[in-house]
Amino acid sequence: MGNIMTNRLDRGFERYREEFEAAALRVLRSGWYILGRELEAFEKSYADYIGTKYCAGCGNGLDALSLACRAIGISEGDEVIVQGNTFIASAMGISAAGGRPVFVEPDEYYQLDPAQIEPHITERTKAVMVVHLYGQTARMDEIKAICDRHGLKIIEDCAQSHGAYAGAQKSGSIGDIGCFSFYPSKNLGCFGDGGAVVTDNEEYYERIKQLRNYGSRVRYYNEELGVNSRLDEMQAALLSVRLSHLEELNAERKAAAAFYDEEIRNPKVKTPVCRDGAEHVYHQYVIRCKERDALAEHLKSRGVDTIIHYPVPPHLSKAYAFLGMKEGSLPVTEEYADTVLSIPMYSGITREEQQTVTEAINEF
Ligand SMILES: Cc1ncc(COP(=O)(O)O)c(C=O)c1O
Repeated sequence: MGNIMTNRLDRGFERYREEFEAAALRVLRSGWYILGRELEAFEKSYADYIGTKYCAGCGNGLDALSLACRAIGISEGDEVIVQGNTFIASAMGISAAGGRPVFVEPDEYYQLDPAQIEPHITERTKAVMVVHLYGQTARMDEIKAICDRHGLKIIEDCAQSHGAYAGAQKSGSIGDIGCFSFYPSKNLGCFGDGGAVVTDNEEYYERIKQLRNYGSRVRYYNEELGVNSRLDEMQAALLSVRLSHLEELNAERKAAAAFYDEEIRNPKVKTPVCRDGAEHVYHQYVIRCKERDALAEHLKSRGVDTIIHYPVPPHLSKAYAFLGMKEGSLPVTEEYADTVLSIPMYSGITREEQQTVTEAINEF
């Protein structure tokens, strides 16, 4: 038997193979591959699923974020508050629109700490970007109250939280605009790159549709400098299949997480905690350990792969060196970067595989 890998995309395909193959053939035979009926159908069902009026597909999650930032009016020099412990694409989405990410500390659930917002508001602050990291939703009631008080927009980065509720609403439908990635490993993943923006705001929606298509509404009449960032018909059709099963897929992840919660018994290892009032759809199951690298080595020797989300926080990356933030400037974020470890979690993981993982962890 090979190693237990951190993800098995092949199992996600096999499970609904016939439906995926039928959808792919339908698109191949249709003779229409970009901006057509498949995309319209997916956009409609995804907006219904999330609970927003509109959804616009685009090329990937990073584009969803940058187009959303542009649509809500982020421009040169505007500041957007975002948690330090995120995938760098969250920050790059802000930068691509000309904005400046202002990194702040997360709470003990790895989500943006609402208490960190007000101390970081300046005259240039335009928005807060909330990342529902690893699949757990942030404290949206508190964040919304603060943003309302200060007239700040909320962008939700839902690349890891498809289908997760915060209170009575699904992530993506709470702020002003929600951004999704459909990268293959995501809870709702396609078979290539894909992304979408959801919103109740018609103006933002129309602007995204224009920006994603060379800044044009009417073919060859270009209103502004746009990009080419479209969710193609093939990905849209395959996503419609996966979306019809998303609830069962998320339920399976939760059951796998409950098994880990129950079975991991090692005082050196901290398992994730789901906050009361939040939902966790376990895009990743992230543990923490002071001897993280030794634990990863040990697991590898027992045939268990792991991955670190993320080893270098964006504020310490070369890409953001120009912000001038030094090591030690975000101690909680940096502590997380040094201690987090994601263990195998995916659609189709078996109990036996999970048992191998937990036994190896407990043995450490
Ligand atoms: C939190 C977060 N934001 C943004 C992205 C970017 O998505 P994409 O890879 O589709 O550009 C990802 C995933 O890759 C992510 O995890």
